[in-house]
Amino acid sequence: MAKVTVVGSGFVGSTTAQRIVEDDLADVCLIDIVEGKPQGLALDLMQSGPVRGYSSRIVGTNDPKDTYGSDLVIMTAGMPRKPGMDRSDLLDVNGKIINTVADYVREGSPNAVVVVVTNPLDTMTYLMRAGTGFPDSRVIGMAGVLDAARFRAFIAMEVDVSLDCVDAMVLGGHGDSMVPLPRYCTVSGVSIDQLMSQEQIDKLVDRTRHGGAEIVNFLKTGSAYYAPSASVVEMAHSILRDQRRLLPCAAYLTGQYGLDDIFMGVPCILGSGGVEKVVQLDLSEDESKQLHASADAIRGDLGTLREKGLLK
Ligand code: LAC
Repeated sequence: MAKVTVVGSGFVGSTTAQRIVEDDLADVCLIDIVEGKPQGLALDLMQSGPVRGYSSRIVGTNDPKDTYGSDLVIMTAGMPRKPGMDRSDLLDVNGKIINTVADYVREGSPNAVVVVVTNPLDTMTYLMRAGTGFPDSRVIGMAGVLDAARFRAFIAMEVDVSLDCVDAMVLGGHGDSMVPLPRYCTVSGVSIDQLMSQEQIDKLVDRTRHGGAEIVNFLKTGSAYYAPSASVVEMAHSILRDQRRLLPCAAYLTGQYGLDDIFMGVPCILGSGGVEKVVQLDLSEDESKQLHASADAIRGDLGTLREKGLLK
């Protein structure tokens, strides 16, 4: 069995651990700084195994040494947003947490692939790469699968078709500047402009951009976790089973889409080495402009991190 460390035992971390063991995908080490919580959750999940019929094992810990030798590290620890907060408002506090975790991942799991879920996503992924010093392909951010899942759900709800026959592609940063691409959205191969008016499509694009905030506003004391954990586990399957799924992920760009030295959402083929390939789509002038505007927003956050001394 592969070993996956899930960092953070909040709702995103604990539901991620649950999905991994329920899928019998890997053994899990769940780590948190809160004493007792990961231990209690892990024991509870071990005791679910006989009933749900899985044999993956899970341990909970506060000791980074227990994470050593991981094949995959999923970073979920950090503060979530409160209503009215932007993901960028979390830069400072979550940046410090990323740096601490990067140190023990570099030390004890030098061959791991790292998937970052902590917000602000694109910036935290950049910081994780800097902190671990891992090759570009082995540090990836989870956002595009989630943003596309939201778009897919909204399309299915609007057209009134099954959720699982809708495909969608969302590029760019995981924030208000994300770039949903209706041209690359289909219902069982049928382009969505055959099924909806432009006005309907525009409305769903806008709802997707604010899909995370919509849930934060309902919950008031936390952010989404079912779809985020489902999305990161989809990536984990592709990596650990070398499935080579084509998924939108935050990847390190070295000139693709005219962008350099930045992490942001682009279509990637994910396999055992992490990002096996960044796929270049033909974008219209307007789509490309939106993607570059999204990159500018991420660069602003990276600048703030440097000013605060969190990114060297
Ligand atoms: C969301 C948070 C996790 O989009 O960024 O729900």
